[in-house]
Amino acid sequence: MKKYSVAVVGATGAVGEEIFRVLEELDFPVGDVLPLGSARSAGLEIEFKGRKYKVKELSESTFSEHEVDIAFFSAGGSVSEKYAKFACDSGAVVIDNTSHFRMQPDVPLVVPECNPDDVKEWKNTGIIANPNCSTIQMVQLLKPLNDAFGIKRVDVSTYQAASGAGKEGMEELVYQMQKFFEFKLDECEPKVFAHRLALNVIPHIDVFLDNDYTKEEMKMVNETQKILHKKIEVSATCVRVPVLRSHSEAITIHFEREVDAAAAREVLSKAPSVVVIDEPSKKLYPMPSISSDTNETYVGRIRSDNFDKKILHLWCCADQIRVGAATNAVRIAQIWAGEN
Ligand code: A2P
Repeated sequence: MKKYSVAVVGATGAVGEEIFRVLEELDFPVGDVLPLGSARSAGLEIEFKGRKYKVKELSESTFSEHEVDIAFFSAGGSVSEKYAKFACDSGAVVIDNTSHFRMQPDVPLVVPECNPDDVKEWKNTGIIANPNCSTIQMVQLLKPLNDAFGIKRVDVSTYQAASGAGKEGMEELVYQMQKFFEFKLDECEPKVFAHRLALNVIPHIDVFLDNDYTKEEMKMVNETQKILHKKIEVSATCVRVPVLRSHSEAITIHFEREVDAAAAREVLSKAPSVVVIDEPSKKLYPMPSISSDTNETYVGRIRSDNFDKKILHLWCCADQIRVGAATNAVRIAQIWAGEN
C-alpha cells in the first residue's frame, strides 16, 4: 500500500497533537513524519506510532528541503497565509485548519460526510480548507435533514469550549478554576478571552463586524452555504462557555414542509458520524462529557416546535479538537489519498 509523507504545521498545538493521534487511530498510511512549529518549539519531540520525531522550525525552504505529500496547517491564519504556498509549490496538498482560505471560491471547503466530491477541486490551488469547528458539527446534521425534508432557515446558539482558542485558551480556563478554589478569582487577568471565562459565559468569539455579528457567527452562515451548496438562511449567536474541549449547539431548523420529530430522529440515526442520544426521561441527551475525545457528533432533545409544524429544535455536542478540526482534516486526507 502507498504511504504518504505527512507534515503537520503547528505540531505542538492542541489540533496538531490531535492530528497525530487521529492519523494513528484511523490507520492512515503514513510514511515520513515532519512535525513543524515556530522557533519556540524547534527541537522538542513528538511521538507517533511509538517513534519520536524532533519538531523543526517552519521556514520558507522547509518544503523544498523535505518531500511532503500532505501538509496539515493548524498554526493560525497568518502562518497559512505566509507558508501554504511553499507547500503547494512543492507539490503537496495542503489541508488547512484555519479560516484563511475557506471562502476563496476556488478552494474547496470540505466536511467528508457532506460534500466529499469537492475534494477533487484541490487541484485548483493545492489547498483544501477545513471548516470552522462549530460549522462542522452543525452541517453533519443539516445535510441529511436537508436531503430528506428540505431546510429553509437555521437559527443556532453555540456553547463553545475553551479549546477553540487552542492550548492557551484551555490553560487559561484551568488556571482560573485553580484560582477560584484559592479564593483568588478576582486576581485573574484575562489574556486569551475577552473576559474571565471561569464561572462565566462570553457572547463574543472572534471580532465584531459592521453588521453587529461576530466573525465566528458569520463563518457559520457563509461556510454552511458553501458546504451544502444551498443558500440556507442561517443566523448564529456564538458563545464561549467554561468547558474544556467540546462544543454544544442549540439548533432551530425551519423546513420547507411539516416534519415530525420521530422522522427526523430516524434520518439522523442513519447519518454518518452521528450518534442519536435522545431519551430525556432517562436523563439521556448529549453533553460535552459524552462527546469529548470521540470522533462522533451527538444529537438529542429532538422536538417539534410548540407553534409551527415546519420547525424542529435539537441539541448537539462534538469534540471541537477532533470532529471540529483534526478528525475532519484526517478524513479529508483519506478521501484525497483514495484518489491520489
Ligand atoms: P509553537 O509552540 O512552536 O509556537 P494552539 O492552537 O494550541 O495555540 O497551537 C498553535 C500551534 O501553532 C503551535 O504548535 C505553535 O507552535 C504553532 N505556531 C505558532 N506560530 C507559528 C509560526 N510562526 N510558525 C510555525 N508554527 C507556529
